[in-house]
Amino acid sequence: MTGLEIKCITTNDAAYQEVLRLRHTVLRAPLGMDIYTEDLHHEVNDCILTAWQRQQLIGCVLLKPLADNTMKLRAMAVHPSVQGQGVGRLLVLQAEREAIAQHAKGIVLHARVSAKGFYEKLGYEIIGEPFAEVTLPHVKMRKQLPTQER
Ligand SMILES: CC(C)(COP(=O)(O)OP(=O)(O)OC[C@H]1O[C@@H](n2cnc3c(N)ncnc32)[C@H](O)[C@@H]1OP(=O)(O)O)[C@@H](O)C(=O)NCCC(=O)NCCS
Repeated sequence: MTGLEIKCITTNDAAYQEVLRLRHTVLRAPLGMDIYTEDLHHEVNDCILTAWQRQQLIGCVLLKPLADNTMKLRAMAVHPSVQGQGVGRLLVLQAEREAIAQHAKGIVLHARVSAKGFYEKLGYEIIGEPFAEVTLPHVKMRKQLPTQER
């Protein structure tokens, strides 16, 4: 994919509203759910990675610091018009670089079972039994990160 730019934003940026719109379209509307009814205040400290092409937001993923020196990757969404073109992979790889820079020792995530193959290709392994989240079957996955010299 040409002309792809990845930027890190926060909830204070105007682009956050576009991130919510994309997440609603990709992750909630197909389930008959509404992201705008969710309490998202906890996202204030998250690293929000966004993928842009020709000033259009085409993908996003959030990285949330957890207490045990790991980070949680969540809200992964790529616009349907560009899925399968490597945008998701680039977002996860950039999230991993960000987590390493913040000295995280690993990343955990809750994968929709329909997307677990995507994360497996990126080196994530399943831990534990499947469970339900936003009405869909999910699995917990994790990846250990290389340590960075302080
Ligand atoms: C799942 C999703 C984030 C993947 O992003 P993407 O940009 O479409 O994926 P990429 O093109 O970067 O794919 C990278 C690799 O994973 C594979 N892959 C992508 N989606 C996959 C899936 N759902 N299951 C299995 N493999 C998948 C691709 O074939 C590609 O493989 P390759 O390296 O052999 O070519 C995206 O399709 C999406 O937003 N889906 C709908 C929402 C969703 O399920 N979000 C995840 C919630 S946990």
